[in-house]
Amino acid sequence: LRTDRLLLVPLADRHLELELLLDSDPEVLRYLKGRVSTEAEVIAAHTRRMGLAEPVDGLGYWIAFGAADATAPPIEDKAEFVGLMMLPLPHGPDQPDDPTMAELGYRLVRRHWRKGLASEASRALLQHAFETAGRRKVIAQTMAVNLGSRGVMEAIGMRYARTYFPVWDEPLPGAEHGEVEYEITREMWTANQIR
Ligand SMILES: CC(C)(COP(=O)(O)OP(=O)(O)OC[C@H]1O[C@@H](n2cnc3c(N)ncnc32)[C@H](O)[C@@H]1OP(=O)(O)O)[C@@H](O)C(=O)NCCC(=O)NCCS
Repeated sequence: LRTDRLLLVPLADRHLELELLLDSDPEVLRYLKGRVSTEAEVIAAHTRRMGLAEPVDGLGYWIAFGAADATAPPIEDKAEFVGLMMLPLPHGPDQPDDPTMAELGYRLVRRHWRKGLASEASRALLQHAFETAGRRKVIAQTMAVNLGSRGVMEAIGMRYARTYFPVWDEPLPGAEHGEVEYEITREMWTANQIR
């Protein structure tokens, strides 16, 4: 998948070092874990992601690369690693068990925040979800206090659906405000394209 500034490559074993790099920044994991991941945790997450990419053609995980020079086409190059984009089937305990849906997620290296890149990559994944992977609805979830993540959801035309309160063994700061879920249906997405 390509956008103006990004190349999205399906996640493969050769990308493990990039997932390790991403999860070595505590700020990136502030609303996910509250600390950096261990190497064993990243390996386990990589294996889980590769498995979740299997059941439905077209769903899964992508590594986003950018171009050093905005006029140059993006290439797969460690130096231009932007982040990890996610579009698996919903699979968490607080998620709908619906084979016609997908769950959008994103995790970018900090130096690429606030450039519109998560929104740009997410728009490409929404198009892919509805036009290629035949999805009926895409949802996204985050901590209510994760304003960056909610900002992406709003920027790409998703609507707030609900707030819910999972029970955590070790709640992160802000967990008392709960988690939010946003959604976009195929009809909403199509209407946004026409506008
Ligand atoms: C969340 C994250 C992916 C946002 O990526 P990004 O590329 O900076 O987002 P964008 O530049 O596309 O911004 C989209 C919108 O959100 C807003 N936004 C982004 N970060 C924000 C922040 N920290 N606080 C408030 N608003 C923010 C932007 O201003 C923009 O709004 P606009 O369309 O009105 O201009 C990035 O901060 C990140 O990787 N965070 C760590 C991982 C994470 O928390 N992932 C989500 C877990 S569910």
